[in-house]
Amino acid sequence: PLHSRIGVLPGDGIGPEVTREAVRVLERVAKHADLQLTFTEGMLGGCAIEQTGTPLPAETWELCKNSDALLVGAVGGEKWDSLPAEKNPGLGGLLRLRRELDLFANLRPGLSYLPELSPLRDVNIDILLVREAVGGLYFSPERGRGVQDGVETAWDTMHYTAEQVRRIGIVACRLASERGGRLASVDKANVLESSKLWREVMREVVADFPHLEVEHLYVDNCAMQLVHRPNDFDVIVTENLFGDVLSDEIAGIVGSLGLLPSGSLRTDKFGLYEPVHGAAPDIAGLGKANPSAAILSAAMLLRHSLDRPEDAAVIEQAVTTVLQRGIRTADLANGDIAPVSTSAFGDAVLAELDDQYHAA
Ligand code: NAD
Ligand code: IPM
Ligand code: MN
Repeated sequence: PLHSRIGVLPGDGIGPEVTREAVRVLERVAKHADLQLTFTEGMLGGCAIEQTGTPLPAETWELCKNSDALLVGAVGGEKWDSLPAEKNPGLGGLLRLRRELDLFANLRPGLSYLPELSPLRDVNIDILLVREAVGGLYFSPERGRGVQDGVETAWDTMHYTAEQVRRIGIVACRLASERGGRLASVDKANVLESSKLWREVMREVVADFPHLEVEHLYVDNCAMQLVHRPNDFDVIVTENLFGDVLSDEIAGIVGSLGLLPSGSLRTDKFGLYEPVHGAAPDIAGLGKANPSAAILSAAMLLRHSLDRPEDAAVIEQAVTTVLQRGIRTADLANGDIAPVSTSAFGDAVLAELDDQYHAA
């Protein structure tokens, strides 16, 4: 059987709780589908700062280079978030990994697994947000803080090269061609130079995909349209920070941050898979976290890095079925449904996987 090395970086807060369930799911799938997976754990983020003084220790970096795919939980916490850039869990840990591994294409699918979970009426979305993940404001060549002309000042600058825009544009167009054939490119070209370039390059890119239905939207309008006509969107492509914000909005439309997975890809098979949500310190350690986003990220790992789309679909179906049965963590439970714990939700997904593989 195919042998793959999975690097597991659970991180901070609820990261370890949800990642544990995702690993259990992969182990169960491996057993049923005759896959050989080895899991090796490493430290990333605040936990790594505590143990080693740095958010991305050399051993973790080695592990990443020796893995076929990475499964990440979440990083961050109040204690570390205000540390200087290179030393904090976000920029010095997770973002540095994305950047140094050149994982420029961050796919964030927002799907109405269960339409009734949306706080909005008549919502049934299947949106793929394609977020540029190694450029833009997050990686300003000029960033800093200091006193300028006697005034306390801080600055970040948004940089994009035409090539950075082109390559994410091509990824988005290809994905839109394989899906619903509609693409929304989101920018702020009425104000920002980097967005003017974005829109120019995006117009050139889409010219090679004449079968696509394309719209160019300003980000503020897009934020509104997502709530107003969510079902109309198919693929959305946008720069790093806009994508960060819009993906949380899409999670809100689906019903919970606990339902949005992601995969950060480049042009080979390697990828980093993680929930869209963060370390959720408000519920960490309480067994309340929804592990769906982590489990669905593991499904994306199977699809994109291990060429196992059928097994990915089995996981997605299992999560959907469990939610449909009314088995829900606290973020999705309402007055009528008593919430289950993170691990009980994981147990239900495992049982459903057993059923599906036995039936097949
Ligand atoms: P967050 O995503 O951690 O939490 C936002 C809200 O959503 C909280 O109320 C939380 O309880 C809830 N939530 C998130 N995931 C959930 C889940 N799986 N199940 C149930 N509820 C869930 O965002 P935040 O509070 O702004 O940030 C907290 C910390 O996480 C910060 O340190 C931040 O830097 C970090 N962060 C990390 C990532 C990442 O690692 N990818 C992403 C976002 C934030
Ligand atoms: C995300 C997170 C990260 C980001 C943080 C933790 C650096 O919010 O993956 O959406 O902003 O990319
Ligand atoms: Mn985010």
